[in-house]
Amino acid sequence: MQDMVRRADPALIDKLAAERDLTDAEFLLLLQQEDPGLDAILFSKAREVRERIYGKDVYIRGLVEFTNYCKNNCHYCGIRRDNHNAERYRLSGEEILSCCEQGYALGFRTFVLQGGEDPYYSDEDMVSIIRSIKSSHPDAALTLSIGERTKESYQAFFEAGADRYLLRHETADPEHYGFLHPKEMSFERRIQCLSELRSIGYQVGCGMMIGSPGQTTEHLIRDIRLIQKLGPEMVGIGPFIPHHDTPYADEAPGSVQLTLRLLSIIRLILPEVLLPATTALGTLDVKGREKGLLAGANVLMPNLSPGSVRKKYLLYDNKICTGEEAAECIRCLGLRVETAGYRIVESRGDHISRYQPN
Ligand code: 5AD
Ligand code: FES
Repeated sequence: MQDMVRRADPALIDKLAAERDLTDAEFLLLLQQEDPGLDAILFSKAREVRERIYGKDVYIRGLVEFTNYCKNNCHYCGIRRDNHNAERYRLSGEEILSCCEQGYALGFRTFVLQGGEDPYYSDEDMVSIIRSIKSSHPDAALTLSIGERTKESYQAFFEAGADRYLLRHETADPEHYGFLHPKEMSFERRIQCLSELRSIGYQVGCGMMIGSPGQTTEHLIRDIRLIQKLGPEMVGIGPFIPHHDTPYADEAPGSVQLTLRLLSIIRLILPEVLLPATTALGTLDVKGREKGLLAGANVLMPNLSPGSVRKKYLLYDNKICTGEEAAECIRCLGLRVETAGYRIVESRGDHISRYQPN
């Protein structure tokens, strides 16, 4: 009898697709079951929904990892301030612009400036970098992923032309947030940043690692509830992967299968969401990104950083795509996307929303 109650039913997936929601107990069942048959049904339902909205299109975002200096000390992250073995680098405005030029020629119409929290770049520096990218490429979207800043800074970057902002919430459980981060960081501040970004007018992305130390299924359900409440345009999720120079060096990595399950669930609760198949997923499993696309993901974020610095932006061990060439990744990804039955498109890849006025 106990077994009957615990076994997840395929009807649960129909309910999730129809109502875009489940009870906590149902999410728990769906996340904890280990039935490959059920996962296959879940992934195929997520694909169906993704294809109804985005067809076979896959959007690419050119990632420019422009600084690996970071004033924070997150326990999981390889570029945390206390990692004195990390070889630090910063790109100049000209170098960043040149990465975007190369990316534009390769067909990218979204650039993501990502970095550690590095106060070396003042608001004025960022504004000038943003302006120069947007004036060279007015048809491209610009995404920032540079962590927590003041509302005034966010406002200035938006006015300079930044369109989108990625700030993973990392975990929606305040206690777990406190466990993963040093005392000076706070979950409340993180959520406040997300709501400020949203109120300024950015398209916003949140997200979390799957299988981070101390994470339970209940935490993941809280993540789902937060995603539902925030209704972000983008959600970035990937498995936790230990980095040898962090306090979590000896922790186990997250599960690829559980990550895929969450990608599908997020697709089903927010059908229009932009959902990347992440590099972390491709690092844990050679077919990880293809599997991600087949579980409802519709975005890829290859690296446009100069070859010389790629091996230095190591958030976790064994990161893939740290070779010399951006063009190489694009060719490789093109083939991978084709294998999955999709196609890369040259587009800003905006969020498609019935509620979007334009
Ligand atoms: N494993 C997987 N993802 C990580 N990130 C940081 N460190 C790790 C790690 N060890 C993720 C965080 C961050 C994003 C840029 O990378 O979620 O927000
Ligand atoms: Fe970078 Fe395959 S995507 S080498």
